[in-house]
Amino acid sequence: MSPFNKLLDKLICLECNQDPLAFVRVNRGNGILHCSHCGNIHLLRDGVFIFLPNKYEIKSPYREFLTRHRDFLREHPVFDRLIKAKIDKLPAKSKAKWEDEDIQYWDEQYAKEPLVKGVETYQITGSRLFPREQQLFKILRKRFKKDDFIFEIGSGDARTVRRLFSPITYDYNYIVSDYSLEAMKYLRQLYRGRGNVFCFQCLGDKLPFRDDSLNAIICLGVLHHMPKKETHLAGLINKLVPNGLLLGYESYEREYQLPHAIKEFVEGIFEPAHSHHEERINYRNANKLFSRFGELINEYHEYSPTRTLMVKLFSNQIEKSAFVTKLCLALDQFTIQTIGRVWKLFGAGGYFFVFRKN
Ligand SMILES: C[S@@+](CC[C@H](N)C(=O)[O-])C[C@H]1O[C@@H](n2cnc3c(N)ncnc32)[C@H](O)[C@@H]1O
Ligand SMILES: [Zn+2]
Repeated sequence: MSPFNKLLDKLICLECNQDPLAFVRVNRGNGILHCSHCGNIHLLRDGVFIFLPNKYEIKSPYREFLTRHRDFLREHPVFDRLIKAKIDKLPAKSKAKWEDEDIQYWDEQYAKEPLVKGVETYQITGSRLFPREQQLFKILRKRFKKDDFIFEIGSGDARTVRRLFSPITYDYNYIVSDYSLEAMKYLRQLYRGRGNVFCFQCLGDKLPFRDDSLNAIICLGVLHHMPKKETHLAGLINKLVPNGLLLGYESYEREYQLPHAIKEFVEGIFEPAHSHHEERINYRNANKLFSRFGELINEYHEYSPTRTLMVKLFSNQIEKSAFVTKLCLALDQFTIQTIGRVWKLFGAGGYFFVFRKN
């Protein structure tokens, strides 16, 4: 079976959660996925699978699909009717939703990103990339098997995977996803013609996959952008096969003994918000969920304000030099182990986890 057909076999309808979905190809990069249980359809549009719940959708993209593929649909009136039935159900304008402001911010970021194609090997430096390599990707690269399906939630431009576990270099199927359509358009262009990369516009809390169907899930700094934070972990774990891995990074609420106002003030200086929804997850709750469904095979805490400050002051040097990267991370650990123990404000504020499902 081709990777594409294997992927189809994993998909579910987001309205009734049933599978399988029948796929009809319109042309290269475009198609219709039909649910025979409830009649709902999802689209493959310009190489991007659009898998949003109906309440997140509006009429216009479906209308545009009708117009663009008029000839095909004239010859296949069943699908013409299905699309028109969906258009009838959808509103013309979207209602304001919790995710909107945040996603508008990300769409703007990804829309202006220059496309840099080419061989994806780089020097592993930088305060983000280096620990992601050490704490997550070294482990994933050792354990993945050829043809595995590895899914990234809230990938954005997939900067980390492109550098540490590129689907051009490694032999696996990469399902990349984000609620931002601009991010998916960007990656579709970058990986055009690659049979092992699949792009999905979907929400992290409404995944279009069967339970027990993914070999690994990557989730880097996304949970805190989602409405129910760490509680979404249970939904992700459901999608993993037994022994499947969930690899992630999240910043978490520090456990202060300080008044809230002081915390806000100090964090405002060291770690100002970049986008909407810069809340954090609750570490204890996350770990309770992990122990219910499996075990953590790696856990590493970092991100003291020292690190934030160093990145601010020496970001160029840290990006370019492995020595300065390591120095920054060593100072981070030093702060956490010394002053952080006494005054938790200077302790770790984020962690890497590699979870294995039972
Ligand atoms: C902080 S960025 C992280 C990007 C990437 N994972 C990384 O580490 O570089 C958060 C990403 O989550 C996406 N996002 C926000 N809310 C989401 C949601 N509800 N479902 C899926 N993705 C979401 C944003 O579009 C953005 O790309
Ligand atoms: Zn259905």
